[in-house]
Amino acid sequence: MFGRRKGYEVKEGIVYLTFDKGCGQIEVLTDEIINVFSPLEREGHHSKAIEGDKSKHVYFEVKEGVDFLEIITASLVVRVYDHFHVDFYDKGGRLLCADYRGNREFATPISDKFIEFLIAEGHEVPHESAEDYRVQVIKRMEGDECFYGLGDKTGVLNKRHYDYEMWNSDIPQAHTDAFKALYKSVPFLITLRKEAVYGIFFDNPCKSYFDLGKEQDGYYLFGADQGNLDYYFIGGTNMAEVIRNYTYLTGRTPLPQLFTLGYHQSRWGYETSAEIRAIADKYRALDIPIDTIHFDIDYMDGYRVFTWNERDFGEPGKVIRELEKKGFKVVTIIDPGVKKDPDYDVYREGIEQGYFVKMPEGEVYENEVWPGEAVYPDFGNPKVRAWWADKQKYLVELGVRGVWTDMNEPASFRGELPEDIVFSDESEASTHAAMHNVYGHLMSRATYEGLVRHDGRRPFVITRACYAGTQKYSTMWTGDNQSLWDHLRMAIPQMCNMGLSGLAFVGTDVGGFGADATPELLSRWVQLGCFSPLFRNHSSKGSTRQEPWVFGEETLRINQKYIRLRYRLLPYLYDLFYETGNNGLPIIRPLVLHYEKDEECKNLNTEFLFGAQMLIAPVVEQGMNKKLVYLPEGTWYDYDTMEKHTGGQYLIKSAPIDICPVFVKAGSIIPNYPPMHYVGEIEVDNLTLDVYPGEGHYIHYQDNGEDFAYLEGGYNAYECSLSADETLIIKLIHKGYAKVYRQFTIRYKGREQQFEFNGDSLTVWLS
Ligand code: NOJ
Repeated sequence: MFGRRKGYEVKEGIVYLTFDKGCGQIEVLTDEIINVFSPLEREGHHSKAIEGDKSKHVYFEVKEGVDFLEIITASLVVRVYDHFHVDFYDKGGRLLCADYRGNREFATPISDKFIEFLIAEGHEVPHESAEDYRVQVIKRMEGDECFYGLGDKTGVLNKRHYDYEMWNSDIPQAHTDAFKALYKSVPFLITLRKEAVYGIFFDNPCKSYFDLGKEQDGYYLFGADQGNLDYYFIGGTNMAEVIRNYTYLTGRTPLPQLFTLGYHQSRWGYETSAEIRAIADKYRALDIPIDTIHFDIDYMDGYRVFTWNERDFGEPGKVIRELEKKGFKVVTIIDPGVKKDPDYDVYREGIEQGYFVKMPEGEVYENEVWPGEAVYPDFGNPKVRAWWADKQKYLVELGVRGVWTDMNEPASFRGELPEDIVFSDESEASTHAAMHNVYGHLMSRATYEGLVRHDGRRPFVITRACYAGTQKYSTMWTGDNQSLWDHLRMAIPQMCNMGLSGLAFVGTDVGGFGADATPELLSRWVQLGCFSPLFRNHSSKGSTRQEPWVFGEETLRINQKYIRLRYRLLPYLYDLFYETGNNGLPIIRPLVLHYEKDEECKNLNTEFLFGAQMLIAPVVEQGMNKKLVYLPEGTWYDYDTMEKHTGGQYLIKSAPIDICPVFVKAGSIIPNYPPMHYVGEIEVDNLTLDVYPGEGHYIHYQDNGEDFAYLEGGYNAYECSLSADETLIIKLIHKGYAKVYRQFTIRYKGREQQFEFNGDSLTVWLS
């Protein structure tokens, strides 16, 4: 495509290359992050994922080789050949990533006759085109390469030998492993082999394709229908560093408000405020902790966004204020589709200002969603984002504490929006085809910015559709799953891969959204939910109700147990979020992230780490009361029995319906809160630390859990060091928040002791 290499020029950290048939650029952003770019469609990057100048302006050398140009950073050697083939080596000369020099070898296409048969019987015709994509990169696949990431995909953890598409899709049928795309597009992968690990971020938001050795064993590829050649090679000595680098580039999940880590209840639909009040009261009466109730679309007047259904929900905001007095926080749903109604101010304003996407002929484009005929805000236009951001004021004034942005693929009931619908890309005109995958991202961004402006606290946004980098603005859930055992099973690799793709604050609808939950399924799902960053029970109209008490005493008890455990572990989870903000590491981690040399961990689909210290192995099969658990190297303690196990082996853990197998690594220090009904109910001045024998180091973080003061140093950090001689030292290493703990309760080997804290340091001899 590019032909022979002609010349090059280096300007401000970028190597500009000319070829016989085109031009390319290699930009050294950091010693480990290299951008490979060619303006196949238009000049410049126009990234929605990367904001600001991420170049660290590091020193690098450029040298002519025999038949290549060599670019040498402190960590990498990049070689550029004819045809714009680019290979990456580490400093020791080990090949990390090489372009494949051959052509694609397509599988034999199906003949037209068989395609007809397939269609006649209702099958889906395989949609791989036996053609090269307009933008395409083929990389050599080395023998033992495993692939992870790609955002929110169904199927197994390791994506080797599978292919996927990036096209945000609202598919109401039950999600299966065979799905190529779901609601989110994160074109980022990590490849791991014995000798090497690196990431590739293909920053092309158009419809794109990843084939990870499915077409042929000798290569993997990524491509897109349109847009530029624009990808980042992301190095690092291990997976954690690759993620750190990727999230340096695309941003990290900011510290959330503490209450958002509590438990959430939702259902589509609670149809009246009376119903919601009754749900809230039942939680308190049954002593089940909960912070947040979600209002699905029925709270709106005729599904008009930023309005209130007074008939069924009473005076605007009254129920929210009442709930607030009982410690509840309310999240309301907002869809992008604005009802076509000339008497409705949001529609009128948008029409007057030209804020909705248009047909190529210039008329406003209409499709159908909940409110009937609807129009779509053009979130690629900064003025539209500012307008939408201002609309959040309406919700904030009602007392809303978080916004759930749904249907933002964007979804449409009368078929998908045509590709040529006119969207904006900042000041330029663009198309649906080019902006589709970033629509949910830009809606989340506008919502986040509006909440910062009008609420001032750390925004809580939940989105269904997203692109790479949305983690800066929003949390995500995996959309409309169903109450199926298969969906519970799938949730583990799905959330693990989301985490590896920078999306740290994620969750699934606990109990399943569609179809009908059973007592056993809900009991097992709440066990997974307890360790999911976003812990929300949500279900669909028409499905069996699934609040914790619906299925009787035993299921209620199990829900109580795991929701209470969640509240005990809130400080641990909050610490993990603090860590994520600093290094991008997810909360839910596949074992391979910390044990990447361990072959057993590379394909582990049914267990995960909750931070580095806790290993969670939920039961995800109906009727099963045992679990095969793999423990990686080291010593592990059974969380329930304190039984000690040596890692590097499998064990069978007895797991009756009320037990989720959990193991804690030797040397761990796990902070706990006392029992509470909701965040803010009590002031915690005594922190309990569960200490597990061994050597360990832990940082505990504390702040007001609400505003941005922490960014100006308004937090406390406690460093806890545990040595093999059974000494625990706790030191306040950063003091910026007035409410320093008064006491620590230490639990060690079945003994519990309380210690006063002098505000500086504490040494405890544990034995
Ligand atoms: C689709 C969302 O995925 C679901 O969670 C929600 O309940 C419905 N829309 C109705 O708003």
